[in-house]
Amino acid sequence: MPPRYVPIEARCAGTSVRGVPDLLGLPVDLESAAALAEQGLRLALLDPADDGAVREWRQAVHRGFLDPEATEEQHAEAVADVAGRRNLGVYDDGIAEPGRPVATIDAWEAPLSLPGGDVRVAAISAVTVSPTHRRRGAARAMLGGELRIAAAAGLPVAAITVSEATIYDRFGFGPATSAADLAIDPRRLRWTGPEAPGRVQLVGRDRMLADAPALFEAARRRTPGGIGLSGLLLTRLFGLASDPVEMRSRRFARYDDTDGVPQGFVSYRAIESESDFAASTLTVHHLAAATDEAEAALWRFLLEMDLVGEVRAPLRSVDEALPWQVDDRRAIRTTAVRDHLWLRVLDPVAALTARTYSGPGRVVLDVTDPAGFAAGRWLLSVDADGRADVTAAPDPSDAVPEVALGASVLGSLLPGGVRPSVLARAGRIGERRGGDAAALDRLVLSPVTPWLGVCF
Ligand SMILES: CC(C)(COP(=O)(O)OP(=O)(O)OC[C@H]1O[C@@H](n2cnc3c(N)ncnc32)[C@H](O)[C@@H]1OP(=O)(O)O)[C@@H](O)C(=O)NCCC(=O)NCCS
Repeated sequence: MPPRYVPIEARCAGTSVRGVPDLLGLPVDLESAAALAEQGLRLALLDPADDGAVREWRQAVHRGFLDPEATEEQHAEAVADVAGRRNLGVYDDGIAEPGRPVATIDAWEAPLSLPGGDVRVAAISAVTVSPTHRRRGAARAMLGGELRIAAAAGLPVAAITVSEATIYDRFGFGPATSAADLAIDPRRLRWTGPEAPGRVQLVGRDRMLADAPALFEAARRRTPGGIGLSGLLLTRLFGLASDPVEMRSRRFARYDDTDGVPQGFVSYRAIESESDFAASTLTVHHLAAATDEAEAALWRFLLEMDLVGEVRAPLRSVDEALPWQVDDRRAIRTTAVRDHLWLRVLDPVAALTARTYSGPGRVVLDVTDPAGFAAGRWLLSVDADGRADVTAAPDPSDAVPEVALGASVLGSLLPGGVRPSVLARAGRIGERRGGDAAALDRLVLSPVTPWLGVCF
């Protein structure tokens, strides 16, 4: 089963130190409010101190994602995180229960890894519209508004993980990382990878929760595409207390290096097979490693466990080292590969200069963006150290390669996992001259395959 998108549990403390309005301090977008008012709908920011309103908002999100009503435990667990986000509701004051929003969205600020370092992004989640109010422009108004608010807060990029691949291109988001679901037959293979000199030990949930933030953070910085997590979004990897059965079934292993320093963890669950006690299914909820050594040790630990007939690992990188560390790579099946992280560039200069490049070189990016944020002809100049300068481009010339692309394609290219020359073949990038997209390949492709291993 594909990993579920569970936005309601996602919370992250947003802070801003850039001398521009903080995302959380900004009001609702007036253009969006006006568009919704024409439909007889009211756009409002949720007051985190209004417990009743927060409960109704949460129930609306559960309804939107076809989940059961939220329980008291789920309310209690999430309440501390609400203040860390902009939570918006669209209200129809004419319905029988007007306190429950007919549409929801939330947004918060988070770091996202790119080649060479982090960029601050507006993470967007909880996009729901009641089935009674669908296709009246509520999602368009909310998303457009939150993109304008994120830009006003000085955030160069917006990020989302999506339930459907058909919705977000029109808002300027492009698929920027892919994720693979793995199904592994551990009894068919033998570990042939490196021997990790440290120690894998089983730890309890409390110990794990204490170690997890630093380990997760160190791990996510190793690949472009990793988003910073805190609050329930991070805790969710270890099972939430509001779901005690699921929580108790989780197990945790930590890898410590030879100095005794924790370098990685895995959160997993085994389900016994009723027909064969020696063939349990082990699901890897998250494996995060700060070093190659920790990654190898934790995989080996999972694959050599007794009584396990299948290991399932959703949302893994499309470029795992694992198949190269076993004697029978066909024991590792990729059951699905799908787009995962979607990015929307709001400030092309800040977004493109936030990362490093495989350059040096120069390419003009002629970006079309009906919403305006990224539109323009931008000269990307990369120096010998891979650092970029982005300026308004001069007139086209034969001296500089030039490509034409939409804003969503720019988002796809940002972490460096998508090859511009393939998008040129697909007709998504136009070349001024043959080979111009290949010139961009040489700059933007990341030496490390981008990966996001969580939903938010
Ligand atoms: C997806 C959802 C948010 C859309 O809300 P909505 O208010 O009906 O959307 P809008 O009326 O604003 O439509 C905006 C545009 O998206 C398109 N669109 C909306 N939902 C779509 C879908 N499921 N698939 C494809 N296109 C869709 C509309 O056709 C419209 O396109 P256009 O403006 O280019 O003509 C809503 O159906 C929903 O809540 N679904 C369940 C939860 C979900 O999947 N949320 C997304 C989480 S990532």
